[in-house]
Amino acid sequence: MKPINPWEGFVQLQENLEGNGVFLVSVDKEGRANPMTIGWGLLGTVWRRPVFLVLVRPSRFTHHLIEESGGFAVCVPKKGELCDALGFCGTHSGRQVDKVRELGLELLPGRKGRVPLLAGCAVHYECRVVAQTRLAQGKLFSPEIQARYYPEGDLHTLFFGEILAAWRAA
Ligand SMILES: Cc1cc2nc3c(=O)[nH]c(=O)nc-3n(C[C@H](O)[C@H](O)[C@H](O)COP(=O)(O)O)c2cc1C
Repeated sequence: MKPINPWEGFVQLQENLEGNGVFLVSVDKEGRANPMTIGWGLLGTVWRRPVFLVLVRPSRFTHHLIEESGGFAVCVPKKGELCDALGFCGTHSGRQVDKVRELGLELLPGRKGRVPLLAGCAVHYECRVVAQTRLAQGKLFSPEIQARYYPEGDLHTLFFGEILAAWRAA
């Protein structure tokens, strides 16, 4: 694994977000990893530090785990790779199934925190949550977005993850 500037992975990240998604990895108290697929995310600068912002609905098991542990990792496969695993992790909850075991995914230890990384991915971000906030009902100004994405509420929480390290697989 080679350390990289977080912005170096941006094009690859963006291609995946627009395609099959990327893995958002969180961890429970016993150190068990739970990958979930995300299609939304922002990479940028906040509070003069590199930040990866992820949007997670409160109904996700991942939401509970990120709040509990205070950290997460984002693992980006090469374009067109790990599609089946992305599909599975986007449709199954860690409450019901151990996705890592079910899919036979290999984990690498996190270098900056407790959250492990998914082997086989091309780019990895290790993040510590520095802030969280929730989209506010009544402040979604597009009726189209409201109707399409929030017919049942479950408005996303925005987790601001300070990027502690970014890696590219060697
Ligand atoms: C392509 C794709 C993108 C997704 N993006 C998000 C997302 O950005 N935020 C979110 O809360 N759920 C998203 N989901 C849904 C979660 O991945 C899904 O509900 C998952 O089963 C939650 O797992 P968990 O309960 O173990 O956290 C997405 C699903 C797919 C298939």
